[in-house]
Amino acid sequence: MQKIKIAVAKGDGIGPEIMDATLSVIGATGAPLEFEFVDMGKGWYEKGFSSGMTPEAKETIERLGILLKGPMETPKGKGMKSINVTARKMWSTYANKRVFKSLNGVETVFSKAGIPIDITMVRENIEDTYGGIEHMLTEDVALCRRFITRPGSMQVHKYTFEMARKKGAKKVTCGHKANIMKLTDGLFLECFYEVAKDYPEIKATDIIVDDLAMKLVARPNDFEVLVLPNLQGDILSDLCAGLVGGLGFAPSANIGDNVCIFEAVHGSAPDIAGKNIANPTALLISSCMMLRHLGLTDEAIAIENSLYHTLQQGFHTVDFGTGAEQQLDTTEFSRQIIENLQITKRTYVNTLNLTQEQNERKVYQMLQTPSKGEAIVNGADFFIESTEQPQVIAHKFKDKLPENMSLIMMSNRGTQVYPNGSLLTDCVNQFRVRVEREPGAPPLTADDILNFAKEISRSIKICSIEWLMMYGGVKSYSLAQGQ
Ligand code: NAI
Repeated sequence: MQKIKIAVAKGDGIGPEIMDATLSVIGATGAPLEFEFVDMGKGWYEKGFSSGMTPEAKETIERLGILLKGPMETPKGKGMKSINVTARKMWSTYANKRVFKSLNGVETVFSKAGIPIDITMVRENIEDTYGGIEHMLTEDVALCRRFITRPGSMQVHKYTFEMARKKGAKKVTCGHKANIMKLTDGLFLECFYEVAKDYPEIKATDIIVDDLAMKLVARPNDFEVLVLPNLQGDILSDLCAGLVGGLGFAPSANIGDNVCIFEAVHGSAPDIAGKNIANPTALLISSCMMLRHLGLTDEAIAIENSLYHTLQQGFHTVDFGTGAEQQLDTTEFSRQIIENLQITKRTYVNTLNLTQEQNERKVYQMLQTPSKGEAIVNGADFFIESTEQPQVIAHKFKDKLPENMSLIMMSNRGTQVYPNGSLLTDCVNQFRVRVEREPGAPPLTADDILNFAKEISRSIKICSIEWLMMYGGVKSYSLAQGQ
């Protein structure tokens, strides 16, 4: 039988220990896999590879399409981007699937109350604030840009509903903050219901993320499959990990069309590295997600059953348990799982279905959805640095504005301070000044905005400019608080 090749990166800290344990268990199932080890992680930054991996590692992962990955560290304070985030984004792994399931033998508040937990969360994995696009607009004011796109949201929702259908789930819930972030989270939510129409047998509901946090703790059984934007998903997935016993039991799969990365949620645990006491469970369950993805379902089931049996027998690593059970080191724990392995039958189907085009891609794929109508420049938001009073700034703007544009409002930290506002609103040295075309005037051109910017910048420092667009006749920008 032809073996399926996968890339393996052992990682830093406890990575090599838990990866060796995991590979020994996979090996004992007889799964038809061949491992190609790749060079990634902290040591490779230190050897001068600024992306934290060698070109050979990148080539191997892109060729094989599957990476089983140990936790990795990024050198601190040297301006290096996290290798974990880079890998997820570079290979467009747009959906981060995490499964949170009660495990027999792992005691939690809920297991003690006899409440089993089985929640699958899909976190959008590329967009949101994780673009890491941040600027100091003034010495006092930092700005982080948050991108939510229609194609990106459609991708993650389609993946979620497909996965829910395969799993036989009855309900998918979208968590969001669209009541506050009407355009960004609003778009994520709009796409959710658009995709949901194609899955009529699955109930689609949504919930505001803070309410979701409360309900996950109070009534976790209300949720089956969840889908969330990146940052909210990041936070709530750790909350869910807490429901089932902590990060040591939280597996994850980063799913893309070309590359999928399977890894534990936890980090490299430098405090216990090299002691052979780390818990390999999260990486082992992540490897089961990988085996299922590859169609090696019997091997995945065999490992899961054996792991649950081992935990039920009272064996555990030092990081959990009541102390009354038998503590094992990492190697002994994996040996015990191997001893308990029972494989009944095997069926091999390679579900990795990369097309020739995906494998040999020479150009960037452009994600785009159909246009909603004519795009018109309706104005611009000028982000300026100033400690002057709003009315003084407004006067300077009005003095220079051409006839086809007018000053609409000014805000400070998102709260309107001109023409109306409260003197109790504390301001920082950075304002947003909104200029729009006069009602009835023709759409503005880039020249209109840039010529005015040049003019006003003689008396006021501009930090950045944001175009105010109308798509299909609809204003596509938010109002200030109080506007
Ligand atoms: P961490 O998850 O490595 O450790 C937090 C605590 O949990 C520590 O007390 C650790 O001993 C314990 N722990 C974690 N995994 C364990 C396991 N398998 N068995 C037993 N105990 C375990 O988080 P921390 O300390 O914030 O990060 C350490 C490094 O890992 C950092 O450099 C961070 O950037 C990196 N990291 C990497 C991730 C990845 O590769 N996906 C994810 C999170 C952090």
